[in-house]
Amino acid sequence: MKSWSYRSKDGRPIGVRYAGINDAKILHDGFCDVVSEGQWLPTFISSATVPDWANWIQRASVGSEAILVAEVDSHYAGHLTLQPEEWMASRHVAKLGVIVIKDFRNLGVGRSLMTSAEDVALVKEYEKIVLSTFSDNDLALSLYQSLGYRAIGFRVRHFKMERGYVDEILMEKIIQAV
Ligand SMILES: CC(C)(COP(=O)(O)OP(=O)(O)OC[C@H]1O[C@@H](n2cnc3c(N)ncnc32)[C@H](O)[C@@H]1OP(=O)(O)O)[C@@H](O)C(=O)NCCC(=O)NCCS
Repeated sequence: MKSWSYRSKDGRPIGVRYAGINDAKILHDGFCDVVSEGQWLPTFISSATVPDWANWIQRASVGSEAILVAEVDSHYAGHLTLQPEEWMASRHVAKLGVIVIKDFRNLGVGRSLMTSAEDVALVKEYEKIVLSTFSDNDLALSLYQSLGYRAIGFRVRHFKMERGYVDEILMEKIIQAV
């Protein structure tokens, strides 16, 4: 199965590959770690269990979904998910989610995952990728903009986080002109 190689800003190898069943626990734990920071994601607990992750990975290995894992020096650093929009008429649109765990941020891992995800999205015949982020997530916004995502809307006071109301910014990128 295809994999991708990059180099981090501090010179370490970054590998990106498709998730396998054995990654279920590390993906679960990584997601829980980022949720527990209470800052970046619009949820306060992770309800998905390790078996739920295993099912998701299994599903993604055959269908239109995809789960990619990034490793720095062979250590899990983050992951990315692509899922089709629910509407039948929007199955050409992938929703993207990405996290990088705290110790590996700002090294180029997120960029590596998102670059690989475009390859995967094209193979899976998506034509467009959508995502959203908090309006105060400067790092994420800067990364997405530099990769060609454009902000297409605001949802004002959309999330009630511990720090107060946070706006949501919706972004999209056309990856396949028709
Ligand atoms: C958002 C996230 C996925 C990005 O991954 P990452 O590996 O940290 O990002 P990268 O290192 O690839 O890229 C970060 C870019 O932002 C820039 N940046 C860093 N801090 C910044 C700041 N405060 N303001 C603006 N830009 C900033 C970096 O210079 C870099 O750009 P460059 O590649 O042109 O130098 C990751 O930080 C993360 O998981 N954060 C917590 C969870 C989260 O926010 N998930 C996304 C929810 S939508």
